[in-house]
Amino acid sequence: MTVVAMWCRHLGDDVIGIGKHIPWNVPSDAKHFLDVVAGQTIVCGRVTYESFPNRTIEGCRIFVLTSDENYEVSDEAHHCVITSQKEMTDVEEDIYVAGGASVYALFMTGKEKLKPQIVVDCVYHGEMQNLEGKSAVITDSVAVLQKNYRRVSPFYVQDEVESAIWVRKGEFVEQSVLKRLVGILEQNAEIRW
Ligand SMILES: NC(=O)c1ccc[n+]([C@@H]2O[C@H](COP(=O)([O-])OP(=O)(O)OC[C@H]3O[C@@H](n4cnc5c(N)ncnc54)[C@H](OP(=O)(O)O)[C@@H]3O)[C@@H](O)[C@H]2O)c1
Repeated sequence: MTVVAMWCRHLGDDVIGIGKHIPWNVPSDAKHFLDVVAGQTIVCGRVTYESFPNRTIEGCRIFVLTSDENYEVSDEAHHCVITSQKEMTDVEEDIYVAGGASVYALFMTGKEKLKPQIVVDCVYHGEMQNLEGKSAVITDSVAVLQKNYRRVSPFYVQDEVESAIWVRKGEFVEQSVLKRLVGILEQNAEIRW
């Protein structure tokens, strides 16, 4: 089982969201996310889940983290509520950690077996939209990335977003997963080392 985390953060302040919204609109970045998670099992926090159109991503199995065990998901056949990260320990398929800030922090610093072996770190260099609400910031997760991971790809640059793949130091990673990620990120991107 491979655990992959993917995020897009704003350069300089590591903001990933304001209220329930991502404060930029970069269709190529949204497409990268959807291509990466297509057909996969993802885990996300309740706030992020509620930010998905119709609370779903077609074709994905979704674990929704919430403290409310009676939370009603939009699609009972494919989504399920978990009240603790522990409930994922026995999942056998690959897991894609899809945020938000609290869930990235949980996985980057949490249970050994569920720490992402791979992180897709996307950094948005443009201006943020001026939205009302509380900022979701991932500085702690970025600090873990910079300390415990090494970059194994070039930077893939497209539409003011610079993306790169990082692997946890000392970790064996499934080459087929890496290859799939590279294939998605390199499409139409300018490559910089
Ligand atoms: N730019 C990106 O890459 C990206 C990616 C994903 C999300 N986002 C943005 O990030 C923002 C949301 O982030 P967020 O940190 O505020 O919210 P979040 O992580 O999406 O959800 C937080 C909620 O998840 C539940 N939760 C988290 N940890 C838990 C645990 N250990 N046990 C049980 N439940 C737990 C709680 O739900 P309850 O309150 O129901 O108990 C908590 O309120 C949004 O703006 C979203 O658009 C950005």
